[in-house]
Amino acid sequence: MELKTSRNLLERARRVIPSATQTFSKGPTQWPRADAPNYLTRGAGAWVWDADGNKFLDCLMALGPIILGYGDKQVDAACARQMAEGTVFSQMHPLEVDVAEMLVDIIPCAEMVRFGKSGSDVTTAAIRAARAYTSRDHVIMCGYHGWHDWCIGTTTRDLGVPRAVAELTQTFAYNNVASLEAALDARPGQVAAVIMEPVGVIAPEPGFLEAVRDLAHRHGALLIYDEVVTGFRTHLGGAQERFGVIPDLACFGKAMANGYPLSAVVGKRDVMEVFDKIFYSGTFGGETVSLAAGKATIEALRDTDALARIQTHGTAFMAMAERLIEENGLRGVIKVKGFPERFLLDMSSEKGDQETRTRKTYFMQECARRGLLYYCLNVTCAAHGPEELAFSENVFREVLPLFARAHQANDFAARLQGPAIEPVFRQP
Ligand SMILES: Cc1ncc(COP(=O)(O)O)c(C=O)c1O
Repeated sequence: MELKTSRNLLERARRVIPSATQTFSKGPTQWPRADAPNYLTRGAGAWVWDADGNKFLDCLMALGPIILGYGDKQVDAACARQMAEGTVFSQMHPLEVDVAEMLVDIIPCAEMVRFGKSGSDVTTAAIRAARAYTSRDHVIMCGYHGWHDWCIGTTTRDLGVPRAVAELTQTFAYNNVASLEAALDARPGQVAAVIMEPVGVIAPEPGFLEAVRDLAHRHGALLIYDEVVTGFRTHLGGAQERFGVIPDLACFGKAMANGYPLSAVVGKRDVMEVFDKIFYSGTFGGETVSLAAGKATIEALRDTDALARIQTHGTAFMAMAERLIEENGLRGVIKVKGFPERFLLDMSSEKGDQETRTRKTYFMQECARRGLLYYCLNVTCAAHGPEELAFSENVFREVLPLFARAHQANDFAARLQGPAIEPVFRQP
């Protein structure tokens, strides 16, 4: 496979772009150095073309934003129409009202809405709103919520985050009520918000989400759901609709507009009204092309079987992967975890994280060679169908026996054509 253009671009990028990327997960340390491309230039449905013209099936969908498929005709037509009218103006635009009303209709906790461009915009806005509403400073979080100080101060990449800010955020563990209780008890009357993804690839244990809500409220803190990933793949109303636990505020991003930059913080009226008093404002907050994309995307998800097709494909892919893992004697070595709309192939090794990354890199390398751009994380979109399933199955039928052989020989590292992928956050 010719990858010369990708590699040349990477060379140039290294000279002018720190880490060569805008998004760590897309950067050169996150993909196999051989065989996988670095630059993609075009997408259609679930397929993408790299800068050298190679075609791949994409299972990651730009890390989530692409929910209908690349180049969705309705969305792109709505954007083209809007682009011809204008992208931003000196006053507000009707689409702000239209899309806000749509969100109020579909999301259980949404009585009012503010928009942003990224997930980080709106999680940070939600935290500021919670701090203003409660007159408290501390935050307790579970998972990743964006690049801003209040979140990244808890990680191993905390360089540049003032200690005074980092000290205001604590973490708790998913499905572990006691860890939240301990964090709340340690800061009585000081916690403004508990923020979490309602679900990831691990299902909530019965009663867990309810217990978190009740604990947060008992301590006078707001419950914020980070639905940047779950909206709207998990359900049109978000995971809050699917699991029936309603937060005070919720943040949406990624897939809201099928790849156009749009995010939203939504919530109960009395909390959202605090936005009248705090400062959350930006030049591009009401940018119209992304709002047009959001409107068309939500219409498609609401009025067609797009979300049902995502469930159908994801379920079939998970079953196919389980079957082939079993057939190749890899049960317990590779585990399929998650839900049809978002699941991963977990190849964690008891030998530690470096071996896990080596195994994953080998799997990714062999898939990329065969035209499957595979991150071992499936983010299903509505354009994944029978053709994509058959293609993936053919690739897995070739790659899993290779993986089994490497596992038996215990020589994954020797089979890599370059270094293993690296962690974005060092292990503590
Ligand atoms: C759960 C979650 N919240 C927030 C964010 C931040 O979103 P963005 O990268 O658009 O700022 C992400 C990004 O991956 C995320 O996965």
